[in-house]
Amino acid sequence: MDINYVYQMIMPEMESVEKELIRNLDSDVEMVNEVASYVFESGGKRLRPVFMVLASKLCGYSGDRATVLSGVVEYIHTATLLHDDVIDGAKYRRGRKSANNVFGNDITVLCGDFLYSRAFINLVKDGDARVQMILANAAKTMSEGEVFQLVKTAEFSLKIEDYLKIIFSKTAVLFSACCEIGGILGGLEDEKVKNLAEFGKVVGLAFQMSDDILDYLGDPEKTGKKPGTDLNEGKMTLPLILLRDMADKNEKQRLRDIIVSENASEEDLTYIISLMKKYDIKTASERYVDDYVNKSKELLNIFPKNEYRDALEFLAEYVIKRDR
Ligand code: IPE
Ligand code: IPE
Ligand code: MG
Ligand code: MG
Repeated sequence: MDINYVYQMIMPEMESVEKELIRNLDSDVEMVNEVASYVFESGGKRLRPVFMVLASKLCGYSGDRATVLSGVVEYIHTATLLHDDVIDGAKYRRGRKSANNVFGNDITVLCGDFLYSRAFINLVKDGDARVQMILANAAKTMSEGEVFQLVKTAEFSLKIEDYLKIIFSKTAVLFSACCEIGGILGGLEDEKVKNLAEFGKVVGLAFQMSDDILDYLGDPEKTGKKPGTDLNEGKMTLPLILLRDMADKNEKQRLRDIIVSENASEEDLTYIISLMKKYDIKTASERYVDDYVNKSKELLNIFPKNEYRDALEFLAEYVIKRDR
């Protein structure tokens, strides 16, 4: 199996999701549609819809609510990206200039708000209070996560538990919501829905860990993002935490100075990347993430073995093997 095969399996649904994303850009204020279209036309992997659609199919669902709710989730995700790039001062996204780099911070923040609100209109129209609560909670948790991350900026001694709390809140909670909603659409009993929610959570944690590895060691041609953004923002992410714990005394002191300064130079980035190569942080990080991937796959054991379960198991692996 490869990632293209997975997209092929659910091609009709994914095409409907694309239509859904464009169909709802219906603002009277042309600028809003322009900014939102700019972001959606830049691509994006649409992974959260893929998880929701596959989870719903695993549970025997074949109606069109998965498309509408995937649109809702992708709008929420995109809103967080717009806001996140303003906060992180990111200049590139999806291989193009970021929206804030093209339209400025003010318009970008407000268009993020538009996408949130637009998402919630469709969520209310869908009419399922249980699903509404899951996504309202996810959006709430994601904003808390971004704030908690800011509070922990430049904290060189950040505990791994706090790192996990940040990435659960800002990222994994939405993956969890997608898989949980897939189970609800399929009318599953609560225990199985819980397993899917937990599966999404664990995969989401692994996904953010791999994003954090790619931020140092990824190829910008593939990720579409500028490397070193996390360092510039003083974020203590998995590869840096592992490096901190492996480095010798002098290296550790220099690392600390760089993080605490919150003003890393290109030279600092090159230094850190060279240390990451010296200590083979890529392998160490991947080993760390492997435990999550294995755990996520175990959570699917209670489901019948079929092509949708195979695809979800493949995706659990893919989130760490990916290069984009
Ligand atoms: C980026 O998410 C933000 C993170 C949670 C790491 P994706 O890597 O899914 O972004 P797109 O939608 O494919 O651009
Ligand atoms: C994910 O964190 C942010 C959101 C969930 C919005 P990052 O800041 O690492 O995401 P990228 O790397 O900018 O996509
Ligand atoms: Mg960012
Ligand atoms: Mg990142």
